[in-house]
Amino acid sequence: VGLGKVSAPHLEAYRALPEVELAGGADPSPAARAHAEEQHGLRTFASVDELLANESVDLLCVLTPTATHRDAVEAAARHDVPVLCEKPLAATLADGEAIVECCARAGIPLAYGSSYRFLPPVAAAHDLVQGGAVGEVALVVETLVGGRGREAQEQIGPAHYPFGTPGGTPMGIVDHGIHFIDVAPWLAGRQVVAASGRGNTSGGELGAEYVALELDGGAHAHLICFDGSWSTALPNEGQWLAGDGWDTSGTLLRAGSWGRDIVELHVYGSDGALRVAPYAHRLYRSGPDGIAEVPVDGPPAPHHFGLQLRAVLGALAAGEPLPVPGEVGLDALRTLHSIYSDEREAVAIGGRDVV
Ligand SMILES: NC(=O)c1ccc[n+]([C@@H]2O[C@H](COP(=O)([O-])OP(=O)(O)OC[C@H]3O[C@@H](n4cnc5c(N)ncnc54)[C@H](O)[C@@H]3O)[C@@H](O)[C@H]2O)c1
Repeated sequence: VGLGKVSAPHLEAYRALPEVELAGGADPSPAARAHAEEQHGLRTFASVDELLANESVDLLCVLTPTATHRDAVEAAARHDVPVLCEKPLAATLADGEAIVECCARAGIPLAYGSSYRFLPPVAAAHDLVQGGAVGEVALVVETLVGGRGREAQEQIGPAHYPFGTPGGTPMGIVDHGIHFIDVAPWLAGRQVVAASGRGNTSGGELGAEYVALELDGGAHAHLICFDGSWSTALPNEGQWLAGDGWDTSGTLLRAGSWGRDIVELHVYGSDGALRVAPYAHRLYRSGPDGIAEVPVDGPPAPHHFGLQLRAVLGALAAGEPLPVPGEVGLDALRTLHSIYSDEREAVAIGGRDVV
């Protein structure tokens, strides 16, 4: 349900899975339905209730604007259909909590769309860290800084993030950072114990944003986002998007090309470090012996959406725990919203109260 921008890579990836049959799609927009019918041969309906009443469905993938995830999940619960819900779980904490409660009450499995975890270089980095390849993780860092000036910045808009609530641009701490908030502690094998930062609100001024997470065991995770300036990447030094990748404007690059800004995760540990290029499909390990590329198994983006779907369907079929349950998405939302909370404690630094 929801046949907008992100449905294209989802459908592209799902169609490459021989065990998956696309039962149908729902969207109130006739143009979106016509596009999905033409491009993907999808049978479509104007509402999710119509879709679920007419088709036999094993899993509903919720790809609607973030503020409408709750309505779509509640429809799935009415029809007793398991859900895979895109990130962020919801636009507000109240909706996120209602989504988890509604699925628990109805007894339907709720999977969270933590697609970043299924990008092969990120999954491989996780395996390396868990296997002790970098020792104790001290710091996880991601920076998404660059853009094409303030004029080119575009807010996602109130359909996703109602005006005045946490929001901003597609590469900001809300829409993209929610991946980091979930993935950084998972990569480090740690829990978030405190979060601080500065984020934009939907419809407001767009400034530089950051998230600073304190993890248990004394580790830290830092994210910096700003797309209101220009990238300092040199030609061909930015993000390499492998074939069939999606650039930051949502364009499918069949043959691959150089993206504009560098989107990379770095994991620094006591015995080594990792440089992870999630969409460039590259992973490097550095340590006392220098830096070397680590081969990555699995297909590049957008097929991480297929790997995610396969993992969810496999868990449902086997009656096993979901790879990433809805509660994980709710935890990430709680952490994100705590950054916006004005209930933080003031501490005295250098004689001044600092929050
Ligand atoms: N995992 C990722 O990497 C990733 C990337 C992009 C977007 N997303 C998430 O996917 C979701 C959709 O994003 P998008 O960029 O495709 O948005 P979009 O605005 O391009 O598309 C949303 C579509 O949903 C339709 N819609 C609106 N209300 C609906 C309803 N009640 N029932 C059915 N359809 C409805 C709209 O008509 C539109 O076609 C968001 O939650 C976003 O955060 C995830």
